[in-house]
Amino acid sequence: MHTLDAIGSKPSPGAAGSSVSPPAGSAEHCRGPTETTWQTFREWLLENLNTNQRSNSRLRDMVTSVAEMAQHTLAASSCTVILENGHGHTVFYHTHSVNRSREVAQARTDTLDGPAAWVVRHKRPVMLNEASDWSILEARRGAQCEGPGARILCVPLDAGGHILGALELTRHKAEEPFSERDLNSARMIGATAGITFENSMLRQSVEEGYRSTIRALASAIDAKDPYTCGHSQHVAQYSMVSGFVLNLDADQLQKLETAAILHDIGKIGINDAILRKPRKLSTTEHAIVKHHPVIGAAIIHSIDALHEVIDLILHHHENYDGTGYPHGLKGESIPLGARIIGVADAFDSMTTDRPYRRAFTINEAMTELLRCRSTQFCPQALDAFAIGFSRHYSALPWRPRVLEQPDRLAMCTH
Ligand SMILES: [Fe+2]
Repeated sequence: MHTLDAIGSKPSPGAAGSSVSPPAGSAEHCRGPTETTWQTFREWLLENLNTNQRSNSRLRDMVTSVAEMAQHTLAASSCTVILENGHGHTVFYHTHSVNRSREVAQARTDTLDGPAAWVVRHKRPVMLNEASDWSILEARRGAQCEGPGARILCVPLDAGGHILGALELTRHKAEEPFSERDLNSARMIGATAGITFENSMLRQSVEEGYRSTIRALASAIDAKDPYTCGHSQHVAQYSMVSGFVLNLDADQLQKLETAAILHDIGKIGINDAILRKPRKLSTTEHAIVKHHPVIGAAIIHSIDALHEVIDLILHHHENYDGTGYPHGLKGESIPLGARIIGVADAFDSMTTDRPYRRAFTINEAMTELLRCRSTQFCPQALDAFAIGFSRHYSALPWRPRVLEQPDRLAMCTH
Protein backbone atom coordinates (compact mmCIF):
# COMPACT_ATOMS: atom_id res chain seq x y z
CA MET A 1 0.00 0.00 0.00
CA HIS A 2 1.14 3.51 -0.72
CA THR A 3 2.02 5.47 2.38
CA LEU A 4 0.03 8.52 3.34
CA ASP A 5 3.10 10.24 4.73
CA ALA A 6 3.06 12.74 1.87
CA ILE A 7 -0.38 14.02 2.78
CA GLY A 8 -0.50 17.78 2.79
CA SER A 9 2.99 18.19 1.37
CA LYS A 10 2.02 18.81 -2.26
CA PRO A 11 0.86 22.09 -3.73
CA SER A 12 -2.86 22.50 -4.18
CA PRO A 13 -4.30 23.67 -7.50
CA GLY A 14 -5.75 26.97 -6.44
CA ALA A 15 -5.54 26.69 -2.64
CA ALA A 16 -8.60 24.50 -2.43
CA GLY A 17 -9.67 24.96 1.16
CA SER A 18 -7.94 24.29 4.46
CA SER A 19 -6.43 20.96 5.42
CA VAL A 20 -8.86 20.55 8.32
CA SER A 21 -12.52 20.50 7.44
CA PRO A 22 -15.29 22.02 9.53
CA PRO A 23 -17.16 19.73 11.93
CA ALA A 24 -19.71 17.31 10.48
CA GLY A 25 -23.25 18.60 10.65
CA SER A 26 -22.24 22.28 10.65
CA ALA A 27 -23.63 24.56 7.99
CA GLU A 28 -20.19 24.98 6.48
CA HIS A 29 -19.69 21.22 6.33
CA CYS A 30 -23.02 20.79 4.56
CA ARG A 31 -22.18 23.28 1.85
CA GLY A 32 -19.39 21.11 0.45
CA PRO A 33 -16.89 22.54 -2.02
CA THR A 34 -17.84 25.83 -3.62
CA GLU A 35 -18.56 25.97 -7.33
CA THR A 36 -15.24 27.74 -7.95
CA THR A 37 -13.26 25.25 -5.90
CA TRP A 38 -14.89 22.37 -7.70
CA GLN A 39 -14.22 23.90 -11.14
CA THR A 40 -10.58 24.47 -10.19
CA PHE A 41 -10.27 20.83 -9.17
CA ARG A 42 -11.91 19.58 -12.39
CA GLU A 43 -9.82 21.82 -14.61
CA TRP A 44 -6.67 20.77 -12.81
CA LEU A 45 -7.47 17.07 -13.34
CA LEU A 46 -8.41 17.50 -16.98
CA GLU A 47 -5.39 19.70 -17.74
CA ASN A 48 -3.08 17.10 -16.23
CA LEU A 49 -4.38 14.15 -18.25
CA ASN A 50 -1.94 12.61 -20.69
CA THR A 51 -2.30 14.25 -24.10
CA ASN A 52 -3.91 11.17 -25.63
CA GLN A 53 -6.48 11.02 -22.79
CA ARG A 54 -7.89 14.45 -23.56
CA SER A 55 -11.06 14.82 -25.55
CA ASN A 56 -10.60 16.24 -29.05
CA SER A 57 -13.50 18.57 -28.45
CA ARG A 58 -11.73 20.48 -25.70
CA LEU A 59 -10.96 24.12 -26.36
CA ARG A 60 -7.30 23.74 -25.45
CA ASP A 61 -6.83 21.09 -28.14
CA MET A 62 -8.59 23.25 -30.71
CA VAL A 63 -6.35 26.19 -29.83
CA THR A 64 -3.29 23.97 -30.22
CA SER A 65 -4.44 22.76 -33.64
CA VAL A 66 -5.16 26.27 -34.88
CA ALA A 67 -1.84 27.62 -33.59
CA GLU A 68 0.13 24.82 -35.23
CA MET A 69 -1.77 25.11 -38.50
CA ALA A 70 -1.44 28.90 -38.69
CA GLN A 71 2.25 28.79 -37.87
CA HIS A 72 2.91 26.14 -40.48
CA THR A 73 0.77 27.77 -43.20
CA LEU A 74 2.32 31.19 -42.74
CA ALA A 75 5.89 30.01 -42.07
CA ALA A 76 5.98 31.91 -38.81
CA SER A 77 8.54 31.34 -36.08
CA SER A 78 5.88 31.50 -33.37
CA CYS A 79 2.12 31.77 -33.02
CA THR A 80 0.14 33.06 -30.05
CA VAL A 81 -3.60 32.64 -29.63
CA ILE A 82 -5.05 35.23 -27.27
CA LEU A 83 -8.56 34.45 -26.06
CA GLU A 84 -10.65 36.56 -23.75
CA ASN A 85 -12.49 33.99 -21.70
CA GLY A 86 -15.47 36.07 -20.71
CA HIS A 87 -14.48 36.35 -17.03
CA GLY A 88 -13.42 39.96 -16.53
CA HIS A 89 -10.23 40.84 -18.36
CA THR A 90 -8.48 37.52 -18.01
CA VAL A 91 -6.66 36.51 -21.15
CA PHE A 92 -5.66 33.04 -22.23
CA TYR A 93 -2.44 32.75 -24.16
CA HIS A 94 -1.35 29.80 -26.19
CA THR A 95 2.07 29.93 -27.81
CA HIS A 96 3.49 27.49 -30.27
CA SER A 97 7.10 28.12 -31.22
CA VAL A 98 9.02 26.51 -34.06
CA ASN A 99 12.08 26.35 -31.85
CA ARG A 100 10.12 24.38 -29.24
CA SER A 101 7.89 22.52 -31.65
CA ARG A 102 6.25 20.22 -29.08
CA GLU A 103 6.09 22.74 -26.30
CA VAL A 104 2.92 24.63 -25.52
CA ALA A 105 2.91 27.54 -23.12
CA GLN A 106 -0.11 29.01 -21.40
CA ALA A 107 -0.45 32.03 -19.21
CA ARG A 108 -3.20 34.26 -17.90
CA THR A 109 -3.10 37.99 -17.48
CA ASP A 110 -5.54 40.70 -16.55
CA THR A 111 -4.30 43.15 -19.17
CA LEU A 112 -3.91 42.93 -22.89
CA ASP A 113 -1.12 44.92 -24.47
CA GLY A 114 0.71 45.47 -27.78
CA PRO A 115 -0.56 44.55 -31.26
CA ALA A 116 -3.17 42.11 -29.92
CA ALA A 117 -4.75 44.86 -27.80
CA TRP A 118 -4.87 47.14 -30.83
CA VAL A 119 -6.41 44.42 -33.03
CA VAL A 120 -9.11 43.57 -30.48
CA ARG A 121 -9.89 47.25 -29.91
CA HIS A 122 -10.04 48.17 -33.62
CA LYS A 123 -11.44 44.82 -34.83
CA ARG A 124 -9.02 44.71 -37.74
CA PRO A 125 -5.64 43.14 -38.52
CA VAL A 126 -2.25 44.77 -38.29
CA MET A 127 0.98 43.91 -40.11
CA LEU A 128 4.24 45.17 -38.59
CA ASN A 129 7.20 44.34 -40.79
CA GLU A 130 9.45 47.34 -40.09
CA ALA A 131 10.17 49.41 -36.99
CA SER A 132 8.39 52.37 -38.58
CA ASP A 133 5.15 50.34 -38.86
CA TRP A 134 4.85 50.42 -35.07
CA SER A 135 3.74 54.01 -35.17
CA ILE A 136 0.23 52.79 -36.03
CA LEU A 137 -0.12 51.35 -32.56
CA GLU A 138 -1.39 53.64 -29.88
CA ALA A 139 -0.07 51.44 -27.11
CA ARG A 140 3.50 50.52 -26.39
CA ARG A 141 4.83 47.15 -27.48
CA GLY A 142 3.49 44.40 -25.29
CA ALA A 143 5.24 41.60 -23.51
CA GLN A 144 3.89 39.08 -25.98
CA CYS A 145 5.98 40.57 -28.82
CA GLU A 146 8.97 38.46 -29.62
CA GLY A 147 11.59 41.19 -29.37
CA PRO A 148 12.93 44.29 -31.08
CA GLY A 149 12.78 44.04 -34.81
CA ALA A 150 10.49 41.01 -34.98
CA ARG A 151 7.95 41.00 -37.80
CA ILE A 152 4.40 40.61 -36.52
CA LEU A 153 1.12 39.78 -38.21
CA CYS A 154 -1.89 39.95 -35.92
CA VAL A 155 -5.53 39.29 -36.89
CA PRO A 156 -8.78 39.23 -34.91
CA LEU A 157 -10.45 35.98 -33.91
CA ASP A 158 -13.72 37.07 -35.42
CA ALA A 159 -16.88 35.04 -34.72
CA GLY A 160 -19.21 36.89 -37.09
CA GLY A 161 -18.50 40.35 -35.67
CA HIS A 162 -17.91 39.19 -32.09
CA ILE A 163 -14.17 39.52 -31.44
CA LEU A 164 -12.97 36.76 -29.12
CA GLY A 165 -9.30 37.70 -29.15
CA ALA A 166 -6.41 37.68 -31.59
CA LEU A 167 -4.05 35.41 -33.46
CA GLU A 168 -0.49 36.76 -33.49
CA LEU A 169 2.25 35.41 -35.74
CA THR A 170 5.88 36.43 -35.65
CA ARG A 171 8.89 36.08 -37.91
CA HIS A 172 12.45 37.01 -37.05
CA LYS A 173 13.87 40.11 -38.65
CA ALA A 174 16.16 38.02 -40.84
CA GLU A 175 13.15 36.26 -42.38
CA GLU A 176 10.88 37.40 -45.23
CA PRO A 177 8.41 40.17 -44.38
CA PHE A 178 4.74 39.22 -44.18
CA SER A 179 2.88 39.90 -47.44
CA GLU A 180 -0.67 40.97 -48.30
CA ARG A 181 -1.31 37.36 -49.25
CA ASP A 182 -0.17 36.26 -45.79
CA LEU A 183 -2.49 38.86 -44.31
CA ASN A 184 -5.50 37.48 -46.22
CA SER A 185 -4.66 33.91 -45.25
CA ALA A 186 -4.30 34.89 -41.58
CA ARG A 187 -7.56 36.82 -41.71
CA MET A 188 -9.38 33.72 -43.02
CA ILE A 189 -7.81 31.54 -40.34
CA GLY A 190 -8.84 34.09 -37.70
CA ALA A 191 -12.45 34.10 -38.92
CA THR A 192 -12.76 30.31 -39.09
CA ALA A 193 -11.04 29.82 -35.75
CA GLY A 194 -13.22 32.50 -34.15
CA ILE A 195 -16.42 30.64 -35.03
CA THR A 196 -14.93 27.31 -33.93
CA PHE A 197 -13.73 28.71 -30.59
CA GLU A 198 -17.04 30.41 -29.95
CA ASN A 199 -18.96 27.18 -30.55
CA SER A 200 -16.60 25.36 -28.22
CA MET A 201 -16.93 27.99 -25.49
CA LEU A 202 -20.73 27.97 -25.81
CA ARG A 203 -20.71 24.20 -25.50
CA GLN A 204 -18.44 24.46 -22.46
CA SER A 205 -20.79 26.98 -20.92
CA VAL A 206 -23.82 24.72 -21.49
CA GLU A 207 -21.94 21.75 -20.02
CA GLU A 208 -20.94 23.77 -16.95
CA GLY A 209 -24.57 24.76 -16.43
CA TYR A 210 -25.61 21.13 -16.79
CA ARG A 211 -23.03 19.99 -14.23
CA SER A 212 -24.11 22.70 -11.79
CA THR A 213 -27.70 21.50 -12.09
CA ILE A 214 -26.65 17.91 -11.42
CA ARG A 215 -24.69 19.01 -8.34
CA ALA A 216 -27.61 21.04 -7.05
CA LEU A 217 -29.85 17.98 -7.43
CA ALA A 218 -27.34 15.82 -5.56
CA SER A 219 -27.10 18.39 -2.76
CA ALA A 220 -30.86 18.22 -2.38
CA ILE A 221 -30.60 14.45 -1.98
CA ASP A 222 -27.77 14.73 0.55
CA ALA A 223 -29.77 17.28 2.51
CA LYS A 224 -32.39 14.61 3.28
CA ASP A 225 -29.91 13.38 5.88
CA PRO A 226 -27.86 16.02 7.76
CA TYR A 227 -25.14 13.45 8.37
CA THR A 228 -24.56 12.85 4.67
CA CYS A 229 -24.40 16.49 3.54
CA GLY A 230 -21.75 16.83 0.87
CA HIS A 231 -21.46 13.04 0.52
CA SER A 232 -22.21 12.98 -3.23
CA GLN A 233 -19.52 15.49 -4.02
CA HIS A 234 -17.00 13.81 -1.72
CA VAL A 235 -17.61 10.54 -3.56
CA ALA A 236 -17.23 12.34 -6.88
CA GLN A 237 -13.84 13.82 -5.96
CA TYR A 238 -12.48 10.48 -4.69
CA SER A 239 -13.81 8.70 -7.78
CA MET A 240 -12.20 11.24 -10.09
CA VAL A 241 -8.73 10.97 -8.58
CA SER A 242 -9.05 7.16 -8.82
CA GLY A 243 -10.07 7.45 -12.46
CA PHE A 244 -7.18 9.84 -13.04
CA VAL A 245 -4.71 7.27 -11.67
CA LEU A 246 -6.30 4.62 -13.89
CA ASN A 247 -5.68 6.82 -16.96
CA LEU A 248 -9.33 7.20 -17.87
CA ASP A 249 -9.81 9.70 -20.67
CA ALA A 250 -11.60 13.04 -20.28
CA ASP A 251 -14.98 11.70 -21.42
CA GLN A 252 -14.79 8.71 -19.08
CA LEU A 253 -13.78 10.96 -16.17
CA GLN A 254 -16.74 13.25 -16.76
CA LYS A 255 -19.09 10.27 -16.98
CA LEU A 256 -17.63 9.01 -13.70
CA GLU A 257 -18.12 12.43 -12.10
CA THR A 258 -21.80 12.52 -13.09
CA ALA A 259 -22.44 8.96 -11.92
CA ALA A 260 -20.65 9.54 -8.61
CA ILE A 261 -22.59 12.72 -7.90
CA LEU A 262 -25.88 10.95 -8.65
CA HIS A 263 -25.03 7.53 -7.21
CA ASP A 264 -27.54 7.83 -4.34
CA ILE A 265 -30.27 9.63 -6.26
CA GLY A 266 -32.52 6.62 -5.57
CA LYS A 267 -32.65 7.65 -1.90
CA ILE A 268 -35.17 10.23 -3.02
CA GLY A 269 -37.62 7.33 -3.03
CA ILE A 270 -36.75 6.13 0.49
CA ASN A 271 -38.74 7.27 3.50
CA ASP A 272 -37.06 10.11 5.43
CA ALA A 273 -37.80 8.39 8.73
CA ILE A 274 -35.55 5.52 7.67
CA LEU A 275 -32.80 7.69 6.16
CA ARG A 276 -32.71 9.95 9.22
CA LYS A 277 -32.97 7.20 11.80
CA PRO A 278 -30.34 7.95 14.45
CA ARG A 279 -29.77 4.26 15.26
CA LYS A 280 -28.77 1.22 13.24
CA LEU A 281 -31.45 0.05 10.81
CA SER A 282 -33.56 -3.04 11.36
CA THR A 283 -33.34 -5.88 8.83
CA THR A 284 -36.56 -4.71 7.18
CA GLU A 285 -35.41 -1.10 7.00
CA HIS A 286 -32.07 -2.16 5.61
CA ALA A 287 -33.85 -4.17 2.90
CA ILE A 288 -35.81 -1.04 1.95
CA VAL A 289 -32.68 1.10 1.75
CA LYS A 290 -31.09 -1.53 -0.49
CA HIS A 291 -33.64 -0.68 -3.16
CA HIS A 292 -32.07 2.73 -3.77
CA PRO A 293 -29.73 1.68 -6.65
CA VAL A 294 -32.71 0.24 -8.57
CA ILE A 295 -34.84 3.30 -7.84
CA GLY A 296 -31.95 5.55 -8.90
CA ALA A 297 -31.48 3.66 -12.18
CA ALA A 298 -35.21 3.96 -12.90
CA ILE A 299 -35.13 7.72 -12.30
CA ILE A 300 -32.10 8.19 -14.54
CA HIS A 301 -33.64 5.97 -17.23
CA SER A 302 -36.18 8.67 -17.99
CA ILE A 303 -33.43 11.23 -18.76
CA ASP A 304 -31.84 10.66 -22.17
CA ALA A 305 -28.71 12.71 -21.43
CA LEU A 306 -27.87 10.47 -18.45
CA HIS A 307 -28.37 7.03 -20.01
CA GLU A 308 -24.65 6.29 -20.04
CA VAL A 309 -24.41 6.46 -16.23
CA ILE A 310 -27.35 4.12 -15.45
CA ASP A 311 -25.17 1.02 -15.01
CA LEU A 312 -22.77 2.82 -12.68
CA ILE A 313 -25.61 3.95 -10.44
CA LEU A 314 -27.37 0.58 -10.53
CA HIS A 315 -24.25 -1.38 -9.56
CA HIS A 316 -22.44 0.87 -7.07
CA HIS A 317 -23.26 -1.53 -4.19
CA GLU A 318 -22.15 -4.72 -5.94
CA ASN A 319 -19.25 -6.45 -4.17
CA TYR A 320 -16.22 -7.81 -5.99
CA ASP A 321 -16.85 -11.30 -4.57
CA GLY A 322 -20.48 -11.32 -5.72
CA THR A 323 -22.05 -10.72 -2.29
CA GLY A 324 -23.36 -7.25 -3.07
CA TYR A 325 -26.64 -5.98 -4.46
CA PRO A 326 -28.91 -5.57 -6.39
CA HIS A 327 -27.77 -8.28 -8.85
CA GLY A 328 -24.88 -9.98 -7.06
CA LEU A 329 -22.53 -9.27 -9.94
CA LYS A 330 -18.96 -10.47 -9.45
CA GLY A 331 -15.45 -9.28 -10.41
CA GLU A 332 -15.07 -7.46 -13.68
CA SER A 333 -18.67 -8.05 -14.68
CA ILE A 334 -19.29 -5.04 -12.41
CA PRO A 335 -18.65 -1.87 -14.47
CA LEU A 336 -15.27 -0.33 -13.56
CA GLY A 337 -16.91 3.02 -12.76
CA ALA A 338 -19.27 1.32 -10.29
CA ARG A 339 -16.30 -0.42 -8.60
CA ILE A 340 -14.52 2.94 -8.31
CA ILE A 341 -17.62 4.61 -6.84
CA GLY A 342 -18.04 1.71 -4.39
CA VAL A 343 -14.59 2.34 -2.89
CA ALA A 344 -15.08 6.11 -2.76
CA ASP A 345 -18.54 5.70 -1.18
CA ALA A 346 -17.21 3.43 1.59
CA PHE A 347 -14.23 5.68 2.33
CA ASP A 348 -16.39 8.80 2.68
CA SER A 349 -18.93 6.95 4.81
CA MET A 350 -16.18 5.78 7.15
CA THR A 351 -14.42 9.12 7.44
CA THR A 352 -17.55 11.13 8.27
CA ASP A 353 -19.57 11.01 11.49
CA ARG A 354 -22.74 8.96 11.69
CA PRO A 355 -25.45 9.18 14.39
CA TYR A 356 -24.28 5.86 15.89
CA ARG A 357 -20.50 6.31 15.61
CA ARG A 358 -17.77 8.87 15.11
CA ALA A 359 -15.65 9.02 11.98
CA PHE A 360 -12.65 6.81 11.35
CA THR A 361 -9.25 8.41 10.90
CA ILE A 362 -7.89 8.36 7.38
CA ASN A 363 -5.42 5.60 8.17
CA GLU A 364 -8.04 3.50 9.93
CA ALA A 365 -10.44 3.85 7.02
CA MET A 366 -7.70 2.94 4.57
CA THR A 367 -6.79 -0.10 6.65
CA GLU A 368 -10.43 -1.15 6.66
CA LEU A 369 -10.66 -0.78 2.89
CA LEU A 370 -7.55 -2.92 2.46
CA ARG A 371 -8.97 -5.56 4.81
CA CYS A 372 -11.85 -5.92 2.37
CA ARG A 373 -9.65 -5.94 -0.75
CA SER A 374 -10.87 -8.54 -3.26
CA THR A 375 -13.94 -9.33 -1.14
CA GLN A 376 -16.02 -6.15 -1.04
CA PHE A 377 -13.69 -4.00 -3.11
CA CYS A 378 -12.11 -4.40 -6.53
CA PRO A 379 -8.29 -4.50 -6.08
CA GLN A 380 -7.72 -2.31 -9.15
CA ALA A 381 -10.16 0.36 -7.98
CA LEU A 382 -8.90 0.20 -4.40
CA ASP A 383 -5.23 0.55 -5.36
CA ALA A 384 -6.06 3.46 -7.66
CA PHE A 385 -7.93 5.18 -4.85
CA ALA A 386 -5.09 4.64 -2.34
CA ILE A 387 -2.53 6.03 -4.78
CA GLY A 388 -4.77 8.89 -5.93
CA PHE A 389 -5.77 9.92 -2.42
CA SER A 390 -2.18 9.97 -1.20
CA ARG A 391 -0.73 11.63 -4.28
CA HIS A 392 -3.43 14.25 -4.82
CA TYR A 393 -4.62 14.86 -1.26
CA SER A 394 -3.73 18.54 -1.33
CA ALA A 395 -5.71 19.00 -4.56
CA LEU A 396 -8.98 17.71 -3.12
CA PRO A 397 -11.75 20.32 -2.76
CA TRP A 398 -12.83 18.63 0.49
CA ARG A 399 -10.70 16.60 2.92
CA PRO A 400 -11.77 14.40 5.79
CA ARG A 401 -11.05 15.45 9.34
CA VAL A 402 -8.24 13.69 11.13
CA LEU A 403 -9.57 12.61 14.54
CA GLU A 404 -7.33 11.92 17.50
CA GLN A 405 -9.57 9.46 19.31
CA PRO A 406 -11.64 7.66 16.73
CA ASP A 407 -13.99 4.80 17.34
CA ARG A 408 -12.64 1.54 16.08
CA LEU A 409 -15.74 -0.07 14.64
CA ALA A 410 -15.23 -2.30 11.64
CA MET A 411 -17.64 -1.67 8.79
CA CYS A 412 -16.70 -3.92 5.95
CA THR A 413 -20.27 -4.35 4.77
CA HIS A 414 -23.03 -1.83 4.30
FE1 LIG B 1 -25.62 4.06 -2.22
